[in-house]
Amino acid sequence: MSFITRRKPLELGAPADGGNHLKATLGWPHLIALGVGAIIGTGIYTLTGVAAGLAGPAVILSFAVAGVICAGAALCYAEMASLTPQAGSAYTYAYVTLGEAIAWIIGVSLILEYTLVCSAVSVGWSGYASGLLRGAGVPELFLNDGVIDVPAIFIALTVTGVLLLGTRESATVNFVLVCIKLAALAAFVAFTLPHFDATNFEPFAPFGFGAHEIDGKKFGMMGAAAIIFFAFYGFDAISTAAEEAKNPKRDLTIGIVGSMALCTVIYMVIAACALGVVPYEPFSKSPEPLAYALKQLGRPGAAAIIAGAAVVAMPTVIMVFMFGQSRVFFAMARDGLLPRALAGVDRRGVPTAVTIMTGLIAAVFAGLVPLDEIASLANAGTLAAFIAVAFAVMVLRVRAPDLPRPFTTPLVWLVAPATVVGCLYLFSSLQTQTMLFFLGANVIGVVVYLLYGRTRSRLAPA
Ligand code: ALA
Repeated sequence: MSFITRRKPLELGAPADGGNHLKATLGWPHLIALGVGAIIGTGIYTLTGVAAGLAGPAVILSFAVAGVICAGAALCYAEMASLTPQAGSAYTYAYVTLGEAIAWIIGVSLILEYTLVCSAVSVGWSGYASGLLRGAGVPELFLNDGVIDVPAIFIALTVTGVLLLGTRESATVNFVLVCIKLAALAAFVAFTLPHFDATNFEPFAPFGFGAHEIDGKKFGMMGAAAIIFFAFYGFDAISTAAEEAKNPKRDLTIGIVGSMALCTVIYMVIAACALGVVPYEPFSKSPEPLAYALKQLGRPGAAAIIAGAAVVAMPTVIMVFMFGQSRVFFAMARDGLLPRALAGVDRRGVPTAVTIMTGLIAAVFAGLVPLDEIASLANAGTLAAFIAVAFAVMVLRVRAPDLPRPFTTPLVWLVAPATVVGCLYLFSSLQTQTMLFFLGANVIGVVVYLLYGRTRSRLAPA
């Protein structure tokens, strides 16, 4: 079998090798919390404003479009995650179905996604934290507008430290923070709903529906959907915890589908409330749009609560993605495609080396690169992974139709192809520069694979 098409065997319910195992400590409430912790973050708190500037109030529909596409992807993920509960997520699914070369490309896409999400959310966190620190008299030099985004670096490294404490401890911290995050969003709805004014929805779609580029940015409802897509993913990170789930076949499905559905509803409500109380234009220019909406309503105290909650809530996103990232590295290293030293776990089952490396890389990006560019590139990597998972489900249905599937994607021949088409359409709605960066990252990735992984893979002939 050529190196391009060689595939890992599908070992149902069993980790890939007898060497390095992660500890199974997570139940389904922790998995839903991991999902919600990963999903709700910079997307709703910060990018809602950016996206409203691209689409106007029609951004509510952008949420719906991105949500439907992600729901399709979530169903495909649930089927694959319950079939192959191994760390590595889309990378592993591609490896057992589509072959090593595609798996490697998806691995690179996931590394892009996870690292850049950590960076993007660190920057988004810094936006809200800087607002509060500025009020406390901290000099500009040390805030998000300084030469280096110091708070963004601080939060990326702090989360890395928490993760090093261990999986169980991290998941518990995450659970508490998720509760705070949900309570704050409920408070936002309570504060804004009485002031809802439908005239703020006019004009509803000032930039139309199809994506079109102006000065390097894609406008229109679909252009906004390509950015706001960022707000929805995170459920996929749960699948990277497959080996740490106590009952992966049942709990992963509950975790993925449950967190996805919950967050979709929350987003539609928050977006409608925000854009129903303030005109979209000034809203779109604020670095802290939800707090801005409340300030415009004459509620500075409520605005401070929301800003404080953003500061508390956003680290959960960084935490889950950093966790996921280290597990993808772990899986790739264990397969021999990355240096095996990266697959080492300490006595408590924490992959220390890769966690530290992920944290450092995320901190560097967070300190130096602007938010919208990081988020778009993260979206490109995620879309590639979603497409691969949808293909993986279809390939396996044809190749092994009789496998006992703990979870089956409903209407798979409609849902999976529609997910592929939807993701391709969102990808084509990203700005051109993002697509070029993505291509560049993959070219580098392919060169690294040809020079390193191709011969060192565990599947390579001895
Ligand atoms: N969905 C995550 C967020 O909105 C990545 O921050």
